Amino acid sequence: MCSIIGYYGNEMAAPIIVKGLKRMEYRGYDSVGVATESNGQIVLKKGIGKVEEVNSKIQLDVLPGKIGIGHTRWATHGKVTEVNAHPHYSTSGKIAIVHNGIIENFEVLKIELEKEGYIFKSETDSEIIANLLQKNYEVLKDVKNTIIKTVAELKGHYAFVAMFENGQLAAARFHEPLIVGIGKNSYFLSSDVLGFIEQTDNAIYIENGNFVIIDKSKLEILDFNGENVKQEITKVSKEFADAYKGDYAHFTLKEISEQVDTIFKAGESTKDAIKNTANQIKNSKNIYITGSGTSYNAALIAKHILGKYAKIKVDTVISSELQFSSDLIELNSTLIAISQSGESADVLDAVSIAKKVNCKVISIVNSLTSSLARESDIIIGMNCGPEIGVAATKSFTSQIMIIYKITEELAKETFEIKYKEISESISKILENHDQIRHIAKEIKKISDIYVLGRGIHYPIAIESALKLKELTYIHAEGIPGGELKHGPLALMDSNVFVIIINPNDTTYSDTLTSAREIKARGAKIIGISDKKSDIYDYWIEIPKSNEISYPILETIPIQLLSYYAALEKDTDPDYPRNLAKSVTVK
Ligand code: AGP
Repeated sequence: MCSIIGYYGNEMAAPIIVKGLKRMEYRGYDSVGVATESNGQIVLKKGIGKVEEVNSKIQLDVLPGKIGIGHTRWATHGKVTEVNAHPHYSTSGKIAIVHNGIIENFEVLKIELEKEGYIFKSETDSEIIANLLQKNYEVLKDVKNTIIKTVAELKGHYAFVAMFENGQLAAARFHEPLIVGIGKNSYFLSSDVLGFIEQTDNAIYIENGNFVIIDKSKLEILDFNGENVKQEITKVSKEFADAYKGDYAHFTLKEISEQVDTIFKAGESTKDAIKNTANQIKNSKNIYITGSGTSYNAALIAKHILGKYAKIKVDTVISSELQFSSDLIELNSTLIAISQSGESADVLDAVSIAKKVNCKVISIVNSLTSSLARESDIIIGMNCGPEIGVAATKSFTSQIMIIYKITEELAKETFEIKYKEISESISKILENHDQIRHIAKEIKKISDIYVLGRGIHYPIAIESALKLKELTYIHAEGIPGGELKHGPLALMDSNVFVIIINPNDTTYSDTLTSAREIKARGAKIIGISDKKSDIYDYWIEIPKSNEISYPILETIPIQLLSYYAALEKDTDPDYPRNLAKSVTVK
């Protein structure tokens, strides 16, 4: 949820760190800071806001020294304030740290350290690391043993980078990502390869429970017992360096537009994975699908499609809920985990629960080097390129396409994906900006929007509501059409807008009946359909298609509507308030 970075090399550290932080800002963006070491002294600047904003105010990139650390924050402990922003100094000012994760026992440790005279300035759990390192370093006088002692005392999930005033850097990983980038005469320590991809594509993915020391241009990797560890250098895909908006006003708009192509690429990066998945599914008695947020909504589509066309029964479980119903997971089953980032803590947790009962894990994931990918028996890459906008767009349709490919493999006679037709239809919908922008103006003052769909269109209704919430901060709710009379109808009056997902398939007439009932109560209706109706106050036309293609086609106008409504409301569509792209805390 935060990003951490460290640099050790021959160039000025601060500008390199600021660049890396800008690329990783999707992980958290409420405040930012940089510290560097120069002539045996640690200097530090930090502030509230996004990297660009803070940098233009206080010039984070103008700090002396060739060694440094940086951070973008997504607040967990303590408000969004300058004091709570990272890096944090230890009491002596001789050590500074940046941290991603949660230190669960920070309160106990803080009381002990305060008794010994250590001073805490922030409300964060992270500051504990700085003071604990100082305490241990003053006794042990050596970075290696200091880290071993410190990690033994910390409880929780963390990755941190510590900078010592003698210019040594150390970083430890415990259930949060930490990657070393190896450049020409330089090293990077980072939460994501995006932190250093412009400088090098050579990376070492630090294993859980290991730490790194960089000193006089020498890199050492050790486990938490202090034993040296050999870890391979991996070449990371340069494609992930392609995280620029280009001519688009926002990443979100770029990513929505890319779906014309990304639907073709889904699953293409991982040879045989679809076939292997189909075989695994055929030979497994129980199949579970898990994910969070949008990825969970894709799991609901999977349940419907696999059940209907491949006659495979699957159970879906929201990842964060699995811990409370872990008894449901039967021995030797298959768990399909869907995650764009592959770093969602809830999803990783679900995977570890399933592994305990000997389940095979199949992941549908965008980052092939993520923690989830590395935990999986079969990996299917979404292959849709970096998704920077916090609201998932192209990754959702890629997830659906992968589910379709698996279904096609299992039910060749009955299931056919019409790639070209889908792509052309997406292009057509994308031509409709002006009308969608006009509707966005209309919904901007509304406080409640409902989205109604039946059958396979219900998961799309939930996904649509999620997009509207994230991007516009308007309360939005997905409703299964048939449930309207069982409660939600009480909410309908002239103050609400209802989006009716109503393609011309078997759900059409029932959904139109629901729309009539809503309209009779005075609510405004936005119909998303290939068939016009007088009931709609606004009709967003989608091309005529079939049950397989409709879910993708319905998704696009809602993504656009959410995006344009965000612009109307003057919110930042790429970085919605209070959210982060990878939710790496539970
Ligand atoms: C979607 O728009 C959200 N930003 C969020 O729900 C997201 O889908 C969820 O956090 C899961 O992320 P993942 O796919 O990276 O695991």
